[in-house]
Amino acid sequence: MKITVMENAAQIGEAVGKLFVDAIQKKPNIVLGLATGASPVPTYQYIYGECQKGNVSLKEVCTYNLDEYVDLPKSDKNSYYTFMHKELFDHTDIAEENVHFLDGNATDVEAECKRYDEALSKAGVDIQLLGIGRNGHIGFNEPSSYFTKGAFKVKLTESTIEANSKYFDENPMPHYALTMGVGSIMQAKKIVLIATGSAKADAMKAMIDGQVTPSCPASILQFHQDVEVYMDKDAAKLL
Ligand code: GLP
Repeated sequence: MKITVMENAAQIGEAVGKLFVDAIQKKPNIVLGLATGASPVPTYQYIYGECQKGNVSLKEVCTYNLDEYVDLPKSDKNSYYTFMHKELFDHTDIAEENVHFLDGNATDVEAECKRYDEALSKAGVDIQLLGIGRNGHIGFNEPSSYFTKGAFKVKLTESTIEANSKYFDENPMPHYALTMGVGSIMQAKKIVLIATGSAKADAMKAMIDGQVTPSCPASILQFHQDVEVYMDKDAAKLL
């Protein structure tokens, strides 16, 4: 794991944004695994800023998002579909047919997860961007007694509901989500994880210094050959 500690979220956004822009310039039809949450927002701002300046094009880029809430309309302001369009896609020239999500409203969840897993392994993710939950979750792979290979429906933990419910002022926050499995995340050629703020300090310590265990799903990244971690001083304070 290559670990970089930076002053603040803005600096991280610029560094990780540059990493992505460079990668897209080198491989215009790159396949990206993308994350939601507050952590990647400055990175997305950097990427679409460069796109708007004409320094990079996302026309041929293909994206797969990590997760989606169950039974939340796509049009809800808190769906990850809406989030990604608002925070990145709408400000770029990406082709809508190249952006992929798990369908949290699918009636046959098993078939939907299978469809996503097959599409993912066919596409092959070049770079996977990750945030991390306070409890060490990646995507919505919550702490558990086992690691899950493919996509599945997960019951969110109290810690995650507490962390994310602040965004739900109109409708209550869903308690279930569909997420890419840890096995699929580990298939990405390169993984870049961002963590900011002291609420992430315990998770970062467990991920980097702890045992590899499904009780901290992010700890499995210790077994990946190409992981870059970017965090601020607050997230790094226990290391
Ligand atoms: C969310 C998402 C994760 C994200 C994490 C941290 O629930 N499912 O993909 O990495 O929680 O979010 P934030 O960056 O807002 O702290």
